[in-house]
Amino acid sequence: MVNIADLRRSAERRLPRVVFDYIDGGADQELTMRRNVGAYDEIDFRPRCAAVVPECDLRTTVLGTPLELPFLLAPVSSCRMFYPRGEAVVAAAASAAGTAYIQPTLSGCAIEEVRAAASGPLWYQLYLVGGRDVAKAGIARARAAGFSALVVTIDTPVAGSRERDLRDGAHQLLNGTLWEKLPFVSQVLTRPRWLMGYLTDGGRMGLPNVVLPGGTMGYTDIGRLLAESAATWEDLKWIREEWPGPIVVKGVHTAEDARRAADRGADGIVVSNHGGRQLDGVAATVRMLPEVVAAVGDRIEVLVDGGIRRGSDVVKALSLGARAVLVGRAYAYGLGAAGGAGVARAIDILRADIVRTLKLLGCASVRELDRSYVSVPREWVP
Ligand SMILES: Cc1cc2nc3c(=O)[nH]c(=O)nc-3n(C[C@H](O)[C@H](O)[C@H](O)COP(=O)(O)O)c2cc1C
Repeated sequence: MVNIADLRRSAERRLPRVVFDYIDGGADQELTMRRNVGAYDEIDFRPRCAAVVPECDLRTTVLGTPLELPFLLAPVSSCRMFYPRGEAVVAAAASAAGTAYIQPTLSGCAIEEVRAAASGPLWYQLYLVGGRDVAKAGIARARAAGFSALVVTIDTPVAGSRERDLRDGAHQLLNGTLWEKLPFVSQVLTRPRWLMGYLTDGGRMGLPNVVLPGGTMGYTDIGRLLAESAATWEDLKWIREEWPGPIVVKGVHTAEDARRAADRGADGIVVSNHGGRQLDGVAATVRMLPEVVAAVGDRIEVLVDGGIRRGSDVVKALSLGARAVLVGRAYAYGLGAAGGAGVARAIDILRADIVRTLKLLGCASVRELDRSYVSVPREWVP
């Protein structure tokens, strides 16, 4: 496993198509998903040669959370589908590497189970599924478990149209009758290693962080519930009353929304298009980063995610003013390929890439990276 693309191929071999495509796919034509990755190719480095950097310092602090690495593990829902006790496994790997894991509301493992598995920092990603009271209960549990920041995702007023999921029969396999499932079951039966793990882990994923009046939410009507419970700027007010720690708004694309988030008291934002899984046709996130940093970089911490597949991508984003980055699919492929060992390998690959890139750039610390280390297309600069 030399790079993240190797982990991706390995995940494709172990996972049923419906699960692999859920991780790998994007919305509609997957334009934005491809743009996210491709935009990093448009950034050129400007190294300082004849400089010897024996040690590179990768440590940073993000919203008061000290980290050994300049990247966090993004909220990726349903990790328990990819590997037994998936979210707990990811949290443990993040802690071992000295970085933070952002647990999504839509997890197969409970907040408390993830806390027990992790020795390092955890953040909680909030969806308002089930309504305000249900969300408040989730926030209280994350607080009690010692999660250190709350990430409010604002780009999901409705689930994006993931055409691969429709073709693979994701809905039928999860909710259909036996008859409806039949055309799609072969993709599951041909992955016995995955199937054994899934069955021994309970064989049916629930959503233990969403406790509705009738009990824990099942893995059924998420799309509908998301559409009924989209977060708005108004919600930040009551969320602030429930959460005394840092609040991060995830899913900002433009300078205008970045200012709105800062004006409403967010401590940080993630420039994100949900990895190209929501509105197809928006620009690559790293292409929007200079605009957003120019608008609010002096007021709040700016993070970015989307398309990061190499450590050099991390270095480029930091050079453009991101405090840190989030990686999603890069570790999800690792989890799908080989559980905790796969997540650890993804982190190791990115870490080694970052160290090598810093040395080649002649830069001793991720905190010293700035615009002088890169050049970007003229139209990216506000
Ligand atoms: C399978 C999958 C599930 C995701 N689930 C969530 C989620 O529940 N909440 C959220 O805020 N973002 C979610 N995301 C988006 C990620 O947090 C992140 O923004 C995105 O993966 C970054 O792009 P990358 O995968 O190219 O690194 C998900 C992404 C993937 C790939």
